[in-house]
Amino acid sequence: MQIPEPVYNIERSYEDNYRDGPVFHGRVPASMPAGPEVSFLGIPANSRLGIPAGPLLNSDWIAFYAKMGFDLLVYKTVRTHAHPSYPPPNCLYVSVSGDLAPGSLSTPLIGSPRMEPSSMRDITITNSFGMPSQDPSVWQEDVSRARQRIGPGQVLIVSVVGTEREGESIAENFARAAKMAKESGAHAIEVNFSCPNVKGTEGQIFQDPESAGRVARMVRKAIGPEFPLIVKVGYIGNDDEAVALLREIGPSVNAIAAINTLSATVINPEGRPALPGPGRERSGICGNGIRKAALEVVSRISRGIGALKLPLSLIGVGGLMTVEDYDLFLSSGADFAMTATGAMWDPYLAYHQKQQNLRHEGIEKGHHD
Ligand SMILES: Cc1cc2nc3c(=O)[nH]c(=O)nc-3n(C[C@H](O)[C@H](O)[C@H](O)COP(=O)(O)O)c2cc1C
Repeated sequence: MQIPEPVYNIERSYEDNYRDGPVFHGRVPASMPAGPEVSFLGIPANSRLGIPAGPLLNSDWIAFYAKMGFDLLVYKTVRTHAHPSYPPPNCLYVSVSGDLAPGSLSTPLIGSPRMEPSSMRDITITNSFGMPSQDPSVWQEDVSRARQRIGPGQVLIVSVVGTEREGESIAENFARAAKMAKESGAHAIEVNFSCPNVKGTEGQIFQDPESAGRVARMVRKAIGPEFPLIVKVGYIGNDDEAVALLREIGPSVNAIAAINTLSATVINPEGRPALPGPGRERSGICGNGIRKAALEVVSRISRGIGALKLPLSLIGVGGLMTVEDYDLFLSSGADFAMTATGAMWDPYLAYHQKQQNLRHEGIEKGHHD
C-alpha cells in the first residue's frame, strides 16, 4: 500500500502552497466522534491533538485541518515584518533507518524530492523555509479570518518569532510580534525559541536560559498576565538543562511545546548540498525519525516541571505519525500532542485518534456497567 501525496505539495514553492493549498482529494468526515471536553490552558477544547507551527500557512489551511478534527491549531510562525521564504525545494524526504540520535547528526543525511512511502514509518523529511512571514497587514487580517473559520472547542494559537531590528532588541521584537498576534484574535501565543540567539551564546534561545527568561518576561508584559503563552523549544540533552531553562521561563509562561526539528546536514545522492544556497547547509529534520528524541525531551521536561512544581502544561511534538504514537506522547508526560509531518501525509490522523478514543471509552463503560 502506498501513502497518498501530502496535502502540502513539497515539489512546489511556499508561495504556491500558500496560495493554492491545501490540495486534498479525499473526503472530509461528515461528523467527528465527540470525546470529553478538555481544557487547553483554560480554553475549552474538543481533544488533546493538534498541529504545531508549520503546515498551517494561513486561514485556508487552518480551516481545512479544523474540519479534519484537529482541535489545537498553530498558525505558522509570523514576524513583525514581511520576510521571504527560501526558494524550493523546502521539504525533502531523507533516508533514515530507525531513530535519529541527536548526538550523531554530524554525519550527513541523504535527501531526495521523490519517494513513494509505503507506510507512515517511511516518512522522515527535512524542512527549510527560513521562517517566512507575510507582512503584518496581511497576516493579522488572516489570523482574524482563521479565528472565524474554526469551530467550537477548537483553539487558534499563533506562533511568533523575534529578530534583532534596528533600534529594537530581539526581546522587544518578540514582545511586539506577540502583542500583534493577540490583537488579531489568537486564543494563545507561542514564542518560537528554537531560533538563533543573536545576543547570547551561539545556538538558539532555548539553549540560553538567561536570554530565554528575558524574552519570556518581556512577552508576558506585552500580552498581559492572563493571556495563554507557550514556549517552543528544540532538543534538550539532559535533565539539568531542562531544569535550568524551566527555572528562568517557568514563572512567565503557561506551557512548553517540545520539540522543534533536529538539525542535520542534508546532501543529495551525488554528495552535494541538497538544499542549495547560503544559510541552508544544515536544515531541520522532522517526522518518523525524531520521535524517540522528542519523547526523551518530553520526559525530561515533564520531570523538570514536576521537580520545580510549576503549573505548566506540556505539548509533545516530533515524529507523531500514528494513533499509537499519540498514546506514547501522553504516557511520556505530555498533556497535549501535535503532529506536523504526520498530519501533512495523513490528514485523517485526528479522526482516527477520536475513533480510537471512543472505542476505549466504550470499553471502559462496558467494564463499569
Ligand atoms: C513544513 C514544516 C514547516 C515548519 N515550520 C515551522 C515554523 O514556522 N515554526 C516552528 O516553530 N516550527 C516549524 N516546524 C517544526 C514543527 O512545528 C515541529 O516542531 C517539527 O516538524 C517536529 O514535528 P513533526 O515530526 O510532527 O513534523 C515546521 C515543520 C514542518 C514539517
